Amino acid sequence: MDPNKRPEDMERITTPELADAFIEKAVAELKAQIGDAGVLLALSGGVDSSVVAALLIRAIGSQLLCVHVNHGLMRKGESEQVVEVFKNKLGANIIYIDAVDRFLDKLAGVDEPETKRKTIGKEFIDVFAEEARKAQGIKFLAQGTIYPDILESEKGVKAHHNVGGLPEDLQFELVEPVKLLFKDEVRVVGKQLGLPDSMVYRQPFPGPGLGVRCLGAITRDRLAALREADAIVREEIEAAGLKIWQYFCIVPDMRATGVRGEARAYEWPVIIRCVNTVDAMTAQVPELDWPLLKKITDRILAEVPGVCRVAYDLTPKPIGTIEWE
Ligand code: XMP
Repeated sequence: MDPNKRPEDMERITTPELADAFIEKAVAELKAQIGDAGVLLALSGGVDSSVVAALLIRAIGSQLLCVHVNHGLMRKGESEQVVEVFKNKLGANIIYIDAVDRFLDKLAGVDEPETKRKTIGKEFIDVFAEEARKAQGIKFLAQGTIYPDILESEKGVKAHHNVGGLPEDLQFELVEPVKLLFKDEVRVVGKQLGLPDSMVYRQPFPGPGLGVRCLGAITRDRLAALREADAIVREEIEAAGLKIWQYFCIVPDMRATGVRGEARAYEWPVIIRCVNTVDAMTAQVPELDWPLLKKITDRILAEVPGVCRVAYDLTPKPIGTIEWE
């Protein structure tokens, strides 16, 4: 039997009871596979790696070492939430790495989108590899691979190994306990493992984070404005009880004229981007209520330093991709 193939008779995990049964089986298999060895996990705070971490904590407890790299491109409050949930609530063994300066120094002046992505990816591998070398007794690398990743890598769309490209001297055996699950099943399992809804139902967030939304060469002040504006958009859309696939902001590397009090202002625009989609291959822009858009706009203009204009992106995919870079 191909271990990377979902058996045809595998029941879809849709209920808490089915999730409990999956968890029980997965925990037993993880214990058998891992024995008393150490396992390393890059814990981004995304749904998949969070659920894998929670499963492993249940199976092997302190043999799991989680590494959370704060690359400075996380959303407001995200790194703090990872530490709060995993260290304080679940008692995980977690190393928090403040790599903000390191990433932002490397990214200074880098304005080409693909080069930005590569710079972020390479720096991530470097930071993670440094921690992996320091850790003792590690035999396994756990990853939040899910079934669509396997299907996509079979089609040659993308390589499914999330922390691919580790140096030669760091070759671990892989532990991928949710690799046969679809995203909705991972969420049901996560909920049963006690993860908070804000983590389990969180919207998709790209690996390079706010880096691909702070357009062109990233500067600290513009990144800070983006983070604040993004938090306002999330807060207001969630408070309105809307179910939207992705909702976020972009801050371009240009400025626009405005008036602030008596003086001329020359500050950044914020662009709000909301999309609904099933598979992210095509996407539609939802019609947001005018009072909600106005409330978000007023808050951004009042609360975010350096911003004097707000726009709503009406572009569907295609032609526009969901992200701007
Ligand atoms: P695009 O912009 O291609 O995005 O329409 C489609 C979906 O993929 C997400 N996305 C990424 N996710 N790493 C990721 O893990 C990335 O580099 C990346 N780029 C885009 C995007 O947020 C959307 O959900």
